[in-house]
Amino acid sequence: EKSALTHWYKGHLLAAKLFHHVLISTDEGKDAREYLRQRGFTKEAIDHFQIGYAPNSWDFLTNFLNKRELPMSEMVECGLLAVREFDKKPFDRFRDRIMFPIWNKQGEIIAFGGRILKDGNPKYLNSPESDVFNKSQILYYIHEARKVIRKKSEAVLFEGYVDVIAAWRAGIDNGVATLGTALTEGQVKLLHRNTDKVILCYDSDNAGQNATFKNAKILEQSGISVRVARLPDGMDPDDYIQKFGGERFSQDVIGQSLTLMGFKFQFFRRGKNLQDEGQRLEYIQSILHEISKLKHAVERDHYLRQLADEFSISLEALKQEQFQIYKSQS
Ligand code: CTP
Ligand code: MN
Ligand code: MN
Ligand code: MN
Ligand code: MN
Repeated sequence: EKSALTHWYKGHLLAAKLFHHVLISTDEGKDAREYLRQRGFTKEAIDHFQIGYAPNSWDFLTNFLNKRELPMSEMVECGLLAVREFDKKPFDRFRDRIMFPIWNKQGEIIAFGGRILKDGNPKYLNSPESDVFNKSQILYYIHEARKVIRKKSEAVLFEGYVDVIAAWRAGIDNGVATLGTALTEGQVKLLHRNTDKVILCYDSDNAGQNATFKNAKILEQSGISVRVARLPDGMDPDDYIQKFGGERFSQDVIGQSLTLMGFKFQFFRRGKNLQDEGQRLEYIQSILHEISKLKHAVERDHYLRQLADEFSISLEALKQEQFQIYKSQS
């Protein structure tokens, strides 16, 4: 008698292969192929990331797994199938969705993210949490990226699988993703086991930028040094690559990532009108607070000068003000 876990892994692997097959070589997969083609997914990327398509059926995967003699109760438990409320009959959870396999750090498929082809809700349907899938502990693609991360001594952190895959096409093969914007201690540990340097590359919308600020702090507190990639307003990495191409992404976005302080200079500007005196002073205060937290005098001096130059304030005044903040913090 095989253990339930073996069945779970086997079910996911078989499902991934089946969905991939449906995507690349069946009539039912045609719209999905066209969708991916329009979004710039290459055949190479589709194969490498084992992307698939779950057809619009209530029993396609259910029948398939049943024929393979995988216990239905376990296929329900691991989230591949769902059950009808009134008679507990299993049915396909994922229907008419692009399927992204999600691996654990050992490289076993433990879940799926399913994207709807058109606009609709939910945009992404992920497998439910289970004994093996804890969304907040997963770093998407770490099982493959870890060796590159070690070699390059650096990881790039994205919000989701689509961005990891787009970046991979652009030659950024040390990218991994939180599934959304939350970053947990477990994910930080997993990163830190492989590198001391992370480039944050979240979406440029408010949610992404606020999370960048928050996650940068979490990473730095664990001893990882952070840089931040900048994207034009309203874009995410995948949007950028589609519009400007992979070369510009790797050169101008990843290659020109900001220091954390550089990011903060522009983060505190968001939504502020610096022509307005009150808002300008608020901005300067926020930056001074950040400067006060820097450990090295040379660094503090550097950024104080930058601030002084930008707003034509005397360096002396800024230094005094910063010293007051420093004293009140310690
Ligand atoms: N996510 C999720 N469930 C949602 C929304 C988002 O799990 N309902 C996760 C997905 O991993 C997604 C990531 O958060 O990739 C980032 O979300 P978002 O920026 O909204 O999606 P994109 O990756 O930009 O998706 P797309 O480009 O396909 O619209
Ligand atoms: Mn370290
Ligand atoms: Mn987002
Ligand atoms: Mn996005
Ligand atoms: Mn996107």
